Amino acid sequence: MFFLGTQTQNSQGHLEIGGCDAVELAQTFATPLIVMDEAHIRNQMRAMTGAFEAQGVGIHVIYASKAFPCLAISKIAAQEGLWIDVASAGELLTALRADFPTERIIFHGNNKSDDELVMAVNAGTDGAGIGRVVVDNFDEMERLNRIAGEAGARQPIMLRLTPAVDAHTHRLIQTGRIDTKFGFNIEGGGARRAVEAALEKENLELLGVGCHIGSQILDAPFFTLAARLMIEFLAEIRDDLGLEFPELDLGGGLGIRYLPEDSPPTMEEYAATLVGTVRENLEKFGLAMPNLAIEPGRSLVGEAGTTLYRVGNIKRIPNVRTYVSVDGGLSDNPRPALYEARYFALNASKVDQPQNETVAVAGKHCETDVLIEEAQLADPQRGDIVAVYSTGAYNYAMASNYNRFRRPAVVLVSEGEADVIVERETLEDVLARDLIPERLRQSEGVVA
Ligand SMILES: Cc1ncc(COP(=O)(O)O)c(C=O)c1O
Repeated sequence: MFFLGTQTQNSQGHLEIGGCDAVELAQTFATPLIVMDEAHIRNQMRAMTGAFEAQGVGIHVIYASKAFPCLAISKIAAQEGLWIDVASAGELLTALRADFPTERIIFHGNNKSDDELVMAVNAGTDGAGIGRVVVDNFDEMERLNRIAGEAGARQPIMLRLTPAVDAHTHRLIQTGRIDTKFGFNIEGGGARRAVEAALEKENLELLGVGCHIGSQILDAPFFTLAARLMIEFLAEIRDDLGLEFPELDLGGGLGIRYLPEDSPPTMEEYAATLVGTVRENLEKFGLAMPNLAIEPGRSLVGEAGTTLYRVGNIKRIPNVRTYVSVDGGLSDNPRPALYEARYFALNASKVDQPQNETVAVAGKHCETDVLIEEAQLADPQRGDIVAVYSTGAYNYAMASNYNRFRRPAVVLVSEGEADVIVERETLEDVLARDLIPERLRQSEGVVA
């Protein structure tokens, strides 16, 4: 049987996560339910930090909170000594409300608003700004310089660079190629001009450069290519401007296991490959080792999530397919529709039986809402609980109210305890922002 984190089979023949029976969780908290495995999250956070420390480098592990932005997970990241990456006012507010130390917050984004920059520069209770703003473009650099000046601050920044790396992952989650809205391209001289411009800004303190080449990357060489290109750029800056930066951020992107056959690099392999390439290239150019940073999201929380659904209608089309419909779908997990993402599922009510009936797990939305085209489930029946694995990253984060569904609840499980960390929306929540203008209220109705 394929188990991740603390998942196991219990004496009832049910799936157990964090010492909690999945079928009981579904009964207690209703479905769809996202179950987050606290021990797995903490282990991943520690393992990532440990893997880089074992390579003997200074490292900031920065949790990319877009993967799962909520108070409790931000709190765990803070407790584990991580930094946090936010990419909007909402993610920044989440980090602040979780009492994340402001000096360990970094802000990404290709179109930050003035309001977001003001919030970042004034985020600390002592009036200091967040740890780093990752400046994406010249326009933002000007605005941030002005806003920091108005706040009487000198804001630490990094520059988002774009090395031309075509990472082998889905086209829609690649961000490091030249044809991208993100960052200053190294090719063509934009990055070089950005460094020169940033050095002239009296209210900005340039600490280094960073890149992010894509997500769910399963082949280590793509990371090494990006690191090599970044260091070639650092060598150019040292040679031409006589300047070495204290920090180098190599982004996120490490893939996870969605299916039993997936084999992403381990964190140890990832750290050894990345640091090995960095060292080799720094030595080649005679550069000193900067403090490294990485921005993992998916690899810290993805496998820790399991979504529990209750089986409803079952439609058998002889010699074609059986559709097992569940009580969620596109609104809690848009990734199959967006990225053709593939998932593993099992019948959590019957883990002790062979999972050998090939079925499609269908959501209950309009459109072709199929979560898994070919899943193997043990004797699916109405009322059974189906568990879809590896839904901790970019699922709740991307959830919507499509078809006016309520966003699901999220529980954090650990050692037999389950705590709600995000409440299920009510139908009233879903309708809460709708208004009928007065002139529609006064209208007489349909004209015949
Ligand atoms: C700038 C940046 N950093 C980090 C991440 C996290 O990537 P992942 O979840 O693949 O580790 C992303 C995701 O898109 C990103 O855009």
